[in-house]
Amino acid sequence: MIGVFDSGLGGLTVLSALTRRFPEVSFVYLGDHAHVPYGDRPSEEIIDLTRAGVEHLFRRGCKLVVLGCNTATAVAARRLQTTWLPTTHWKAEGHNVVGIVAPTVEAATQTPWAVTTPQYPQKFLTDRIAVFGTTRTIASNVYAEEIRKRCPKVTVLQQICSELAGAIEVGAADSDLERLVEASIAGAMAQAGGEPPHRAILGCTHFPLVEHLFRRHLPPATRILSQPDIVADSLEDYLSRHAHYAGAAANEPRLVLLTTGDPAEISARARVFAGDGLAFEPLDVAVGAVPRT
Ligand code: DGL
Repeated sequence: MIGVFDSGLGGLTVLSALTRRFPEVSFVYLGDHAHVPYGDRPSEEIIDLTRAGVEHLFRRGCKLVVLGCNTATAVAARRLQTTWLPTTHWKAEGHNVVGIVAPTVEAATQTPWAVTTPQYPQKFLTDRIAVFGTTRTIASNVYAEEIRKRCPKVTVLQQICSELAGAIEVGAADSDLERLVEASIAGAMAQAGGEPPHRAILGCTHFPLVEHLFRRHLPPATRILSQPDIVADSLEDYLSRHAHYAGAAANEPRLVLLTTGDPAEISARARVFAGDGLAFEPLDVAVGAVPRT
């Protein structure tokens, strides 16, 4: 059983790529709708909320949790992996948590994460890569740093889209979402004197839900990297080396959707993007709730 954690609905874009890729694996999704959006929250709060969410999924029986959220990954993944997890009994029991920035940087630079010095031909790449993300993701600078380590001549256009994830969550009208997307693209292009990016990373898992709007306003030559598919590729590689995380008990449900918010309301909102059939359940408090702040 594998857990997928996000601040809200955005991680469903990752979850859907994973359930398609791994039909035999059971997934538990947790959306922290009580606290969405994460993007403008202080880092320490994001770390606490992410840890609580991961721990809930561990208690629920997930040995591996994928942070289906760029903000949680950019701000909290390293802290949880190096400072928190090793001090817990979870580590000794073989639990792990992985983020989604590393595979996205690997795909954007065509360089394995372990390779941190520029190789040929990446050394000479002079492309422009746009990264669209939340305030906290962009402020962490993680995408720009990790891309430039591998491709020092690439120009990274980092664009904060502060209201977009929140607007997607509340089901804002397409015209409002389009205005926000258009302004973000204009902001990114202005950083390069109006020159278009060669590639675009939608560095917030909510944004694939409005990928059609990014596609409409980005120049046709700009390639949009599909983060959900990238994450599925990366997990496939990871599971080929750690197959025990994919194991499922015979009577295990294939998919459980949990929310810290109101299940009826969240299920209705999820339907706008994902169609019928997604029924969120409340957290089982006996298992341990994500604290409300
Ligand atoms: N979907 C998340 C991300 O990938 C978080 C958006 C938010 O809660 O602000 O960044």
